[in-house]
Amino acid sequence: MTLATKAGVSEPWRPAYTNAARPTALERELAAFEAKSILVPLGGADWQRTSGHTFETNTAADWATIERQSAIYHRDRQAKEVLTFLAASKDEPSYGWQTNNYGHSLQTATRALRDGADEDMVVLSLLHDIGQNIAPVTHGEFCAAMLKQFLSDDYLWLLSYHTVFQRYHRFNHPTSDRMGREKFRGHPAFELTAYFCEKYDQNAMEPDYPTLPLEAFEAMVYRFFNKEPRFVGRR
Ligand SMILES: [Fe+2]
Ligand SMILES: [Fe+2]
Repeated sequence: MTLATKAGVSEPWRPAYTNAARPTALERELAAFEAKSILVPLGGADWQRTSGHTFETNTAADWATIERQSAIYHRDRQAKEVLTFLAASKDEPSYGWQTNNYGHSLQTATRALRDGADEDMVVLSLLHDIGQNIAPVTHGEFCAAMLKQFLSDDYLWLLSYHTVFQRYHRFNHPTSDRMGREKFRGHPAFELTAYFCEKYDQNAMEPDYPTLPLEAFEAMVYRFFNKEPRFVGRR
């Protein structure tokens, strides 16, 4: 994109902030760091690096390399990273509940498993609150976005709206809109979402419930992310 100047000469467009002088404090902070290479090893022994270092300079062969290697890379990587992220919250404190979010996640998945839910529902149950502490208000959509390639529309809807349906169970909450879910009555995933919240989620803070450890779900999570995705690329 170019802009015409008064003199009639076109200049490349730049965001306005690039014209602002950098704050001196930031310059001082940056000066404290030594610049380092960010080159990392490859994920496979016989894998190749691209010749280009940018989208614009990658050759067609580079793109073929990236497509081929990324398909292998992401098959197990998504499962590994999700499990690592969840495991990192194991010892976090609770803000009042008898369990922390990690314990709640495991208990929700255990309840789904014991109820005979299918594997998608068990994995969904395990991960439904994984964004609770980094996207508290939008954690349902956060998880739905993460699992979008691998779940049915009903299960994705459940994830996105479970926060609304959970409010129904706040019997003694002074201000919560318990009936907020009613505007969705008739939606194909209404009963499913209500069932998930009642049977697996709202009751999964019991400290003495026999909750299965994360290891019990690991193989399932790997299988889940190794499924044929519903679509490839952005949708
Ligand atoms: Fe939640
Ligand atoms: Fe939850």
